[in-house]
Amino acid sequence: MEIVFDHVTMTFGDDVAVKHFTATLNAAGVVGLIGPNGAGKSTLVRMLTTQIKPTEGDILLDGTSIVKHPDLLRTKLGYLPQQIPYYPELTARAYLHYLAAAKGLPRVATDEQIERLLGQLHLDAIHGRRLANYSGGMRQRVAIAASLLGEPQLIVCDEPTVGLDPIERASLRTLYSQLAQTRLVLMSTHIISDIESVANRILLMRQGRLCFDGKPADAISAAQGCVWEVAAPIGKALPDIPISAVKQVSAHEVIRFVADQPVIAGAEQVTPTLEDASLAILEGLVMTHG
Ligand SMILES: Nc1ncnc2c1ncn2[C@@H]1O[C@H](COP(=O)(O)OP(=O)(O)OP(=O)(O)O)[C@@H](O)[C@H]1O
Ligand SMILES: [Mg+2]
Repeated sequence: MEIVFDHVTMTFGDDVAVKHFTATLNAAGVVGLIGPNGAGKSTLVRMLTTQIKPTEGDILLDGTSIVKHPDLLRTKLGYLPQQIPYYPELTARAYLHYLAAAKGLPRVATDEQIERLLGQLHLDAIHGRRLANYSGGMRQRVAIAASLLGEPQLIVCDEPTVGLDPIERASLRTLYSQLAQTRLVLMSTHIISDIESVANRILLMRQGRLCFDGKPADAISAAQGCVWEVAAPIGKALPDIPISAVKQVSAHEVIRFVADQPVIAGAEQVTPTLEDASLAILEGLVMTHG
């Protein structure tokens, strides 16, 4: 499967949400889509999943425009939207059966898959309870199960780990990396630690534009020399610098920041994480294309 974003642009009135986004996805694996609030991630995902049409540019699936032929993609797609649909009166099992029937999936194979998904997403223990009485994280897991019905070749998920506890997040990472051995998983997220260990490629967006496309390791090595740590008394006023983390250590704080120089006296250079590297790229400290 090959997906080509060809100068994809989306404007809402005077607002440019996505601008000339160009990239090709053609290998199995997890692709992480990251960027700050309002960067254009959900808009890009909604165009890819044919919810909305780009105002300019095209998206091709194996050479054919899905903007013109959305049905080509829909049979291959599993989509987890950022705002999940919600059917309070149904149980998880009933909801998944309802969706499978609506998608026209074959009965026997789907029944087996639903039982498997309920187990993999740890929803089988709450058998019989209506979705209205689920916690937020349980509902999110039902939506994830729904997005995987029919074993889609392309899995697109917008903030899948929102509301999940650390154990469920780790379990979801494992599930997505297993699926990604033979499928393409495009995952938009703010929680960089959720993709750091599983993504083999990241697409970083800023103000509608793609500002980095590459392996996490390449982003990290590009940010070498730009990440610093300094200890400061708690509450001390700091210069206006991009801070990637603050750790409290007994009576002081350790401030981790990105800059091309150790702008605070006593700052020491540290090895970047993907989180630091993303911030350094977003701040324009690292030369990338785009
Ligand atoms: N339906 C819409 N009408 C008008 N503007 C919109 C619409 N959808 C998105 N936008 C605007 O497009 C820009 C990108 O929004 P988008 O939801 O794609 O960002 P995002 O990267 O997904 O952010 P977040 O991390 O908060 O989910 C924002 O400025 C937003 O206000
Ligand atoms: Mg979004």
